[in-house]
Amino acid sequence: MNPFEEKPIPINDGIDDWASIYPVSYSKQRIDPYTKLRIILSNCVEVGEILFKNIFLCNCTNNDLRREVSLLRRIEQQQQKHINWLKPIDETTLETTIGYEHLEVALTACLAQNEPDGYVKQVFEFSLIEDLDHLYRFSNLLDLDSQIPAQQLVQSYVDITPGRPAIAQHRFPFDSVRHSVDFTKADIATKLNILIAASCQQQTENYYMNVGNSYYNDLGRRLYLEIAMIEGDHAGQYRSLIDPNCTWLEKLLLHEYMECYLYHSFYNDEPDKAIREVWGRLFQQELSHLQKAVGLLMQYENKSFEQVIPNAVFPKLIKFDDTRNYVRTVLKEQVLLTADRERYAPIDTLPDDHDYFFYQDRVNHDIKTVASHNVVTSHMQKYNIDYRAEEKTNPVDAFADRTADNTQIARSPNKT
Ligand SMILES: [Fe+2]
Ligand SMILES: [Fe+2]
Ligand SMILES: [Fe+2]
Repeated sequence: MNPFEEKPIPINDGIDDWASIYPVSYSKQRIDPYTKLRIILSNCVEVGEILFKNIFLCNCTNNDLRREVSLLRRIEQQQQKHINWLKPIDETTLETTIGYEHLEVALTACLAQNEPDGYVKQVFEFSLIEDLDHLYRFSNLLDLDSQIPAQQLVQSYVDITPGRPAIAQHRFPFDSVRHSVDFTKADIATKLNILIAASCQQQTENYYMNVGNSYYNDLGRRLYLEIAMIEGDHAGQYRSLIDPNCTWLEKLLLHEYMECYLYHSFYNDEPDKAIREVWGRLFQQELSHLQKAVGLLMQYENKSFEQVIPNAVFPKLIKFDDTRNYVRTVLKEQVLLTADRERYAPIDTLPDDHDYFFYQDRVNHDIKTVASHNVVTSHMQKYNIDYRAEEKTNPVDAFADRTADNTQIARSPNKT
């Protein structure tokens, strides 16, 4: 499918009344976990579009152009509300959180497996097994506080098991910056993957930093705080991959193309009839945004869309799938990696005076204050073991003991 060859609806057809913006919520008992992931990801992307257009408006001096961006922004706002209000009243914040972490694992695995650029693939795989660990920590909180096994929510699509432990994921910010990718040379799949992954991580941070202080107990509030810091770091890594030489209108075109790709993917993969109609409608609206972006790029920069997106046929579509074997392989091979400026390196190759150890000592020197550790030990104290749901045992021997949380692996050079 080439979205530039499709005939779009008029852009103003995207303006809806209140009755249409407010959707019928899904049933949390009946929804397929992958439908839920698509809903959360769509919300992430629409939030990202609102923020992108806000910053565009602040960086543009031409009010005619600002009016056009403002119209696009208004429709992104409506889309975001429609999608985000699909969540039912009875789904708790923590249950939604399990969805965010499941999404991060499933999406990152899907993108990494389809990523043609080896460097970008490495960036994805690096954070994939960190989000796997977040899913495990939040699942322990859910079981501890609500006696709800997270496997009920994610079914058997993903393992709930330790990844590279959260305590090891706190790094000096100098090690969060990646090399940017040259978008004039990159494959279209790479550009789409980076934009989608960055939106996902950014919205996860937004969600935790906004709702985390409303959790009803201290341990949970602390866990949200700690994981929000890491999500922000992941978002920063992904965002630093984006080509800083793109103009605002080139970026606008890429963003609208990305949204078309997303909704076309979702439409093709969605078994829920009502939700499928939502993806179809949003796809039509995004086609009209894309057409608008094509016109603005030509009018203000005298560039054709082909100069930005030469091969406009969509690459392989996003499809959530069982990636448990792949995630296990990445975990086994990469658990000991940490970030060393723009690259990744085994923890035991870092010099003793590396920033990583300085930062670790600053934030983690008192292990009793580290919530990601405490949540698992609290579960162990109450139930004798941690909460897991695994198809096969964890591939890392150091995680075999379910009565002790390993806080040394991937963090301390000699005690792996
Ligand atoms: Fe949108
Ligand atoms: Fe995460
Ligand atoms: Fe859009």
